[in-house]
Order: sequence, then structure tokens, then C-alpha cells
Amino acid sequence: MAAVLQPAELRASDFARLDATGHVYLDYTGAGLYPDSLLDAHFALLREHVFGNPHSVNPTSKASTELVERAREAVLAFFSASPAEYEAIFTPNATGALRLVGEAYPFHAGDRFLLTFDNHNSVNGIREFARARGADTSYVPSVAPDLRVDETVLRRYLTNVAGDHHNLFAYPAQSNFSGVQHPLRWIDEAHEHGWDVLLDAAAFAPTNRLDLSRHHPDFVCLSFYKMFGWPTGVGALIARREALAKLERPWFSGGTIVAAFVQREYYQSAPGAAQFEDGTVNFLNLPAIELGLSYLARVGQEEIHEHVQTLTGELLQTLHALRHHDGSPVTTIYGPRGLDRRGGTVSFNFLHPNGEIIDERYVDRIAQKHSISLRTGCFCNPGAGEVAFTISRETLVGGEFGAGMTLDDYVDAIGLPSGGAVRASLGLPTNHADIERFGEFVREFVDVTDVPDDLPPRIGC
Ligand SMILES: Cc1ncc(COP(=O)(O)O)c(C=O)c1O
Repeated sequence: MAAVLQPAELRASDFARLDATGHVYLDYTGAGLYPDSLLDAHFALLREHVFGNPHSVNPTSKASTELVERAREAVLAFFSASPAEYEAIFTPNATGALRLVGEAYPFHAGDRFLLTFDNHNSVNGIREFARARGADTSYVPSVAPDLRVDETVLRRYLTNVAGDHHNLFAYPAQSNFSGVQHPLRWIDEAHEHGWDVLLDAAAFAPTNRLDLSRHHPDFVCLSFYKMFGWPTGVGALIARREALAKLERPWFSGGTIVAAFVQREYYQSAPGAAQFEDGTVNFLNLPAIELGLSYLARVGQEEIHEHVQTLTGELLQTLHALRHHDGSPVTTIYGPRGLDRRGGTVSFNFLHPNGEIIDERYVDRIAQKHSISLRTGCFCNPGAGEVAFTISRETLVGGEFGAGMTLDDYVDAIGLPSGGAVRASLGLPTNHADIERFGEFVREFVDVTDVPDDLPPRIGC
């Protein structure tokens, strides 16, 4: 059994480049950082073997197939998903997994697609598939200031089902906006009322244990670069075999069939995961998935969670404690102020002493001066942002995004105080010194009055 790895020691070995370059990386919800030793192990494997396209039976093809299948087994084992119940399908990213579900879920008129306001745009986009097929879409709101869901309202939606329909409920295990961890017990509750459940684990899986022997969502999506930084371009849809059988793929392609004919215009789908993996899988990168998961297992998901939780507490405390000289707060936090049922993703804005929000582009500029990488904007989660910034439906319906408008024009047109929020997110390599450096950065905003007017245009939300 390989040695247990400690976050503090790993910072000095696998992530030494952070301190060597003086960088404070606080965008782990955007992307995890790869450990040097994962690259070494992956590249050694590539250097020492010959791998061919797995769609064949020659020796190099077999070598690839073997590692792809080992990666698949490693994914199921990491999440304690029984191979009898679940299938792991490799996709380009979490979005690719969501698209597979969206385009193939058998939505018809009268079916329902239910989702929380708090969702990534890659989940929101499924509503367009649902709508095109005549299904109804409903959103369950988040409630400020904690940005959680009122469970009595959710229950009303979940119990409002009638007849023999396909109904899909989608929510994130952890919000990529506020860090809120929505309850996994909703999965059983939704099942009791006949819903299929799509759990977005992209922001949750890097620093929390998801146990698919305890919780049984029908579909789970994730991106591996968010879990261990390497490689990009590989995600997974982990799906219950029963739920997969319901999906109706809108096309076939190389890799997804056993046979196809031109003159008969007939095809026979491949069984299992292959039916959902279009073209050649990312066979040179997939071996890194087994290595990356084994790396996380040697640190321990519970240990990573504890480590990130402690540092998140320090970061929240830093934001809370800060006051302008007149006693007014320097920051406003969107989401839970404490550590209860939240992960290591914290969204906030800086405030002028008069309470107005400081332009997030100015925040970017100061962060750059401190070599700090944060995220600013709406983080592809417009629903959480609409609640956090109290933007009503009427405001949005009244203010159309007109042709030729820039994002800045739109922000002005609907009267938003800023283009979004600031997000700091923590991961396994984060240490106490990062939080101290973050503290020096936030102190720059004490008593800020004037913000320069030469800020760059906003290019996207
Ligand atoms: C909660 C959540 N879902 C989905 C995604 C989409 O992931 P990807 O861009 O890797 O497809 C992200 C990315 O930030 C996310 O945070």
C-alpha cells in the first residue's frame, strides 16, 4: 500500500511551483492544479509503452483498451459505485456528460424538467432540449442571503407529478457560485415521487466524498481536471444502467455501434458505455485518470475536505472581520457566512464605505498586483447571481440584450451595480500562507473611495 500523503508536504513537493513563482492560486472551482508526480507517472507510462487506437485488436490497441477499462473501473471504485448498478462513460468534460443526458433524455409533452436556480449554465442548457421536445421546465429558487433552497417549496415541486411521465430533476451537489452544499437526501425524495435525478458533482467531487453506494442519483457529471488538475479534456457521466437504458441517442457515430449499413440504413448500437462515447476516446489521457484518482485516495477525500474546510473558515473570517475606518463592512458575502453545509468556494464583493459595490474589474487589477488568481463575474451560474444581486424577472424581461449591445451596455441598461461578484475557491494545495496573502490583498480595499475609470470592457459573464 502506497504511503499516505499530507497536504502540507505535498505543497512543498508536488505543488512547489506555486511558491517558486510566488503565486496565490484561489480558483480551484475553475480548475484544480496538477501534482508534479502525476505528470511524472503519466509521462513515464506513455514513454515506456506503445499505445494504439483502441478500436482494434492489435497488441498496441489492446494495451490502450486495457488502460481505458482500468480507468473506467477506477472511476466506479473511487465513488463506491457498484458496476452492477452503474456505468462510467468518458466525455470531454462535465458539460459533455450533461449534453449526453440532455439530448437523449426521452422528454415528451407533459414531461417535466425541474432544476434549481443554482445551476451551472451547462445544466441550464438542458432546458432547451426539454423545451424543444414539449416538456415543461420549472426552476426552484434559492433564498438570500444563504442561497439555499426552501425545502417546503422544493417538496411542492417534487410532489406535483401526475400520470406516466419522464421527469428529470437536476441540481448541483455543491454550488460553483456560493459553495452551498445542497442535500444529497433530495435524491431519495425525488425518486419516491418518480423523478430521475441528475446530480452535478463537478464542484463537489474535488474536495468531498461522493459515495454512490449510499446515494443513488441516476446521472452524475464531473470533470477530472477540477479534481486533480490533469488532464484537461476528460470528464465522466456516471449513470445508473437502468437510467441509461431510457436514453434515446439522437445519432450514432464511430465507436458507438456494433454494426451500421449504408444500403439498409440500419445500425446496431454498442452495449454499455461504448454507445455514449463518440469517436475515439481520449485514450492517451485516460490512464492519468486512474493515477489521479489513486493520488486523491492516498491523501483521502475526508482529509482533503477537512483541510479545505479549515482554510475556508480562515478565509471567511478574514472577509468578515474587515471594516472601513467608519466601522462599515469592507465585504459582502453571497451565501453561507459559516462552515455549515458549505464547501470551499466563497463569493463576495468589496464595498465602498458608502455601501456601494466596488467594480469587480478593479478587484481583478489589485489581485493581479498581488499575484492572486481569483474569478470574477457570474461564474456561469446566472440563477444564483440573480438571487444574490436581487435581480427580478421583471428587470430581466424589461431589459432585453439587444443586437450590438456589449455586456457593459447591458449591465447599465438593467441597472446592475457591478458585472458580478468575486470568487475565491480553495483546494488541496491551498495553505495558511495563501490565506495570509489573501488577507494582505483584501486590506487594500479598506477606505477605498475612488476607483479609476480606465477599466477594461467586460467580455463575458
Ligand atoms: C458546478 C459545475 N458544473 C458544471 C461545470 C462545467 O464543467 P466543464 O466546463 O468542465 O464542462 C462547472 C465548471 O465550472 C461547474 O462548476
